[in-house]
Amino acid sequence: MQILTDYLVIGSGLAGLSFALKVADNATVTIITKTEFNVTNTSLAQGGIASVTSQSDSFASHINDTLVAGAGLCDRAVVEKVVEYAPDLINNLLQWGTHFDTSQDGNFDLAREGGHSEFRVLHHKDNTGYEIQRALCEQVRKHPNITIIEHCFAIDLITQHHLGKLVKRHLTDIECYGVYALDTQNNSIITILSKITMLATGGAGHIYSNTTNPAVATGDGIAMVYRAKGILDNMEFVQFHPTALYNPKEQPSFLISEAMRGAGGILKDTSGNEFMYKYDERGSLAPRDIVARAIDSEMKIHGSDYVYLDCRHLSKETLLGHFPTIYNKCLSVSIDISQQMIPITPAAHYFCGGVKVNLDAQTSIHHLYAAGEVSCTGLHGANRLASNSLLEALAYADFAAKHAQQKIQTIEFAQNIPDWDDKGTTRPEEMILITQSVKEVQQILSHYVGIVRSEMRLKRAFNRLWTIYMETEELYKQSKLSPRLCELRNLIQVGYLVIKAANARKKSIGLHYMVSYE
Ligand code: SIN
Repeated sequence: MQILTDYLVIGSGLAGLSFALKVADNATVTIITKTEFNVTNTSLAQGGIASVTSQSDSFASHINDTLVAGAGLCDRAVVEKVVEYAPDLINNLLQWGTHFDTSQDGNFDLAREGGHSEFRVLHHKDNTGYEIQRALCEQVRKHPNITIIEHCFAIDLITQHHLGKLVKRHLTDIECYGVYALDTQNNSIITILSKITMLATGGAGHIYSNTTNPAVATGDGIAMVYRAKGILDNMEFVQFHPTALYNPKEQPSFLISEAMRGAGGILKDTSGNEFMYKYDERGSLAPRDIVARAIDSEMKIHGSDYVYLDCRHLSKETLLGHFPTIYNKCLSVSIDISQQMIPITPAAHYFCGGVKVNLDAQTSIHHLYAAGEVSCTGLHGANRLASNSLLEALAYADFAAKHAQQKIQTIEFAQNIPDWDDKGTTRPEEMILITQSVKEVQQILSHYVGIVRSEMRLKRAFNRLWTIYMETEELYKQSKLSPRLCELRNLIQVGYLVIKAANARKKSIGLHYMVSYE
């Protein structure tokens, strides 16, 4: 089966949906998503979206906070552009029907999170992402030019490689013509040809066993670009959120929003002592990397698997009014957060690196744009400032839409693209091996490529992962595709890239950004 569409959008989170809405008036748009339309990382975002909207705040302050959190590795031009566009982008969200909380005077009720020197986070209670996803889904579903295909898993970008040309990573003329995608309900491969493709596939939290990301975050976009010989950047900078609920039986981990520390929550060790000032003068509101490392160190000192977040001194009105999702979730596991401290532990949360894009969201592959967590824009540097991720997704979808609308007039659909050929492949007899390998990959990354890394651990991780990598490539060649096999392959490739980049960073500058090296 073949589909032709002017724009192909892969992924249905904020980046994909807002891009679709911005280009759809004069063109056909197809959005594909590998499970259901609103199963996205966006839906789970609790904290909010950072933007300068109050008199006491300034662009200079938001820019400075972003640069400081990024540990000197942000691209200043990107930071300035995104921060200065933010208020316009917030207006887009409002026009699409998103509701943000307001205070009694009618102004936005702004929250504060780690690394922010001002209250500047717009939010909808503690389920901001869910509210944004709701509003955008409604708009997209009623747009006549947008087609949504669920259960459609992008397998590989189509490039000159599929026309028989040797494509190498140093080439500057690689072009994207669309994707091969697996219809996961009928188990057939569809060829989708597009003039412009937007990659909005999100992150790869599931290379780790303990992550706040939904199960769909398996690095599919990053791995596809890697295989298509596109350029990636900053792959070693995986952000660990300091405060995931410690509940070992539950995966993914439930997030305890940083906004709770912004509202006054205090981190304490298992003896009930506050510890953050030992590590940073900003205490519990230091940037995320510093807090995650401090917690890791405290857990090692005390031999515990968690520390506590103490919110008992916050009023019940604050807890229920601002954090109803967290309050009810904790209650469901028998923790009344107005009476008891919350056991928390860091968990893999966000990929600061990914597919390298320029200021117009163009990747190194022509006609392929990327936005959101899959991309590396230069905004986050080594460590993302809290609530800058929804902002970045929205900003780069906008930059891409503006650029792509100029370009599309000059692009034709590719001709003579062959159908996917799976002759000679069979269903793998031992599906259990795939599940087992996924677990092994997650354990390897968690044990050896976590918050604290060392040369020896990275070497061990590389050796272990390499064996699974080769076994999986062998299996992949012989097998009819299944979503789980494709995800396993993507997880391995992204894990490999993280290890490789972590080693290279250590050797080139030896800095202790985001993760520390022992
Ligand atoms: C949170 O609410 O702590 C997460 C927000 C973010 O990842 O920026």
